[in-house]
Amino acid sequence: MGKIIVSASGKGGVGKSVFIVNLGATLAERGVKVVMIDMNLGLRNLDIYLGLENKVIFDVADVLGGLCGYKRAMLRDKRFPCLHMIPATQDRGKFTFDKASVAGFYAMLRESYDYVLVDGPAGVGKDLTLAASGGDIAVIVMTPEYVSLRDADMADRVLSEAGVARRACVLNKVNRELMRSGLFPSFEDVFARVRPQLVGIIQYDENINIAANCGVPVVYQRGSYIEENFNRMTDRLLSI
Ligand SMILES: Nc1ncnc2c1ncn2[C@@H]1O[C@H](COP(=O)(O)OP(=O)(O)OP(=O)(O)O)[C@@H](O)[C@H]1O
Ligand SMILES: [Mg+2]
Repeated sequence: MGKIIVSASGKGGVGKSVFIVNLGATLAERGVKVVMIDMNLGLRNLDIYLGLENKVIFDVADVLGGLCGYKRAMLRDKRFPCLHMIPATQDRGKFTFDKASVAGFYAMLRESYDYVLVDGPAGVGKDLTLAASGGDIAVIVMTPEYVSLRDADMADRVLSEAGVARRACVLNKVNRELMRSGLFPSFEDVFARVRPQLVGIIQYDENINIAANCGVPVVYQRGSYIEENFNRMTDRLLSI
């Protein structure tokens, strides 16, 4: 039975979607079956980060509403046959489903897929608890800024109350010199403020930004330190 992994952050724009896309690509490279679900309702992004935006016809609300089966809504990346994605709806009014329906949907997918990766929304409101319904593991993405750390801690509490027992965090957009300078939070500050286990650190790197804009997971740059880093993070995340 597959694992359900959900991204969260509290603060927006910290790199949740880029993380999920590259986690998915890293896992798919290992030959396991991965489906990513964009649950950032009204603000879908995964289709663009995967270069599949022109292929979207149906979305997750259509699937849950019974308008189509999940395979009709699923987009496939020709380059990577093990990597599948279901887009979020852009029409929030179309999404009227409760936590039980969402959890049931993930549970159905985990029968056929090794990993169900859910791209969650920013914030700590009901969209987050809906996206996290029935999740096995939450990855809280944060950046080395005090606002992001505080929001990550809040997201951790909300996910704990929502019943997601295994939670990890990833520190993204890291500039080590700035973190050592005293002008930004240090690693000690990060550890003091956020409780879940840190499973990875991702540098601020414009190649990550460029790849996202070009609709290509950056880990597909073979042999890069980023590919290596994602492989290590993936191993740590799966072992928590
Ligand atoms: N390590 C990084 N280095 C440089 N740019 C990055 C890095 N990680 C993410 N980005 C860029 O930061 C921006 C936000 O990333 P992303 O969309 O993944 O954030 P998000 O947390 O999913 O945002 P939202 O809260 O809106 O869903 C994008 O332009 C992305 O390319
Ligand atoms: Mg996002």
